[in-house]
Amino acid sequence: MLIIIDLLIVYSFTVFTSQHPIRSDPVIGCHVNMENESFYNRFICAIVQPLRLHWNFRDNLNYINARRAEIGVSKHYDFRERANTLFLTDSFFGFEVPAAWPPIHQEIGPILPDTFPSLSSDLDLFLSSHARTMYIAHGTFLHTTPKNYAILLQSALELINRNILDGVIWATVTFNESELPLTINLSNGEIIPTSNLLNNLHPHVYITKYAPQFAILSHENTKLFLSHGGISSSHESIYTATPMLVLPIAFDQAGNAERLELAGMALKLSKFDLKVDDIISKVVRLLSEESFKSNAKRLQVLAKYNSKRKYRGADLIEIMLNMAKYDGIINENGELEVNIETLLRSWITPDSRMGFFRGNYLDVFGVAVIIALVLIISFVYGFCKAIMIAFRKLSFKSRNSQIFPKNKNE
Ligand SMILES: *[C@@H]1O[C@H](CO)[C@@H](O)[C@H](O)[C@H]1NC(C)=O
Ligand SMILES: *[C@@H]1O[C@H](CO)[C@@H](O)[C@H](O)[C@H]1NC(C)=O
Ligand SMILES: *[C@@H]1O[C@H](CO)[C@@H](O)[C@H](O)[C@H]1NC(C)=O
Repeated sequence: MLIIIDLLIVYSFTVFTSQHPIRSDPVIGCHVNMENESFYNRFICAIVQPLRLHWNFRDNLNYINARRAEIGVSKHYDFRERANTLFLTDSFFGFEVPAAWPPIHQEIGPILPDTFPSLSSDLDLFLSSHARTMYIAHGTFLHTTPKNYAILLQSALELINRNILDGVIWATVTFNESELPLTINLSNGEIIPTSNLLNNLHPHVYITKYAPQFAILSHENTKLFLSHGGISSSHESIYTATPMLVLPIAFDQAGNAERLELAGMALKLSKFDLKVDDIISKVVRLLSEESFKSNAKRLQVLAKYNSKRKYRGADLIEIMLNMAKYDGIINENGELEVNIETLLRSWITPDSRMGFFRGNYLDVFGVAVIIALVLIISFVYGFCKAIMIAFRKLSFKSRNSQIFPKNKNE
């Protein structure tokens, strides 16, 4: 088991891994795709922010290294530059910004369970009778402020009033819905007693603590998913081709929101500046512009094929375990000891052993650039010199011919 702990990391939060600088993350004030950013932003996001991140997490790194030392496992030097760990990412091309991963870094996502809880008869009835339903859920362990929840509820009611939606299902999970402030009906100024909503007396709103999310998203009448943009929710929404309105709260969620927006199947909201009007106009766009649905379907194709890769992920783990038998040596206590670099040698690229300059071929390219510069400079110098000599000769000739004009009769 020790082998596995040391070898393998499964994750979806790419900001902590060695990666191409074109990929960054909003969590460090950057964007998931740095393609169109200014030089200044690219410099900050490729150099300054990663250093700051490393500095801020040095205590965690020291802690992990101390724990590793206790059980005799070699230490990690850095969160981002581990060449001797097999990384399995719960992500896939089409969702992740395209840039090459090193071979030791394998994408095996989206990881989705084989079976999902099905709809309760209540929910089934609600969904079948509401053809334009929005599903709201914010994951299992995060919540935003009561004020934001009130804005979400107000928006949901307003969307129903204006007949943009005819149904809202809200899975509240960790959030204590009895703390919801009173809601005002914007159309007539009347106060709507929140208890009516919570007891599901409103014909178009269904509030529940837990909901079978995948089954709801799979229903054809679920037209929209208002989500925090956690990786599992995003994958489920993609898998069911449900356009999203993303309200990121923490961690990788802001990055996922950007990825989903770049893929053209979502719009995002800000938890610091949540407004009823903004939510309504974005819901209208998501429902009326065909591109959101078609892009969601496009991603769905990628997700469906790539979701088989979880078996590949399991195979990779088994490969490691089986190879350990051949690459390991039995130590004096009769335990199998494996040198990770030996075990992972088929995946570790040689450049990681060659140092920064040689590994990136900077020595070779550097010399090539110097040679090119020397050649260009000597060429330009020679060219100028030749021109100057020619010019001098010419002016000498013309001066001579002015002083001693040629006799035309000669
Ligand atoms: C950057 O700009 C190009 C050209 O306008 C565009 O094709 C590309 O999608 C943009 N990328 C991002 C991440 O906005
Ligand atoms: C939810 O809030 C109500 C009212 O403030 C309180 O009475 C109740 O204990 C809370 N429930 C939980 C589970 O925290
Ligand atoms: C809000 O007021 C409008 C207009 O009077 C009414 O049609 C609608 O049902 C009300 N909404 C709620 C949630 O009570």
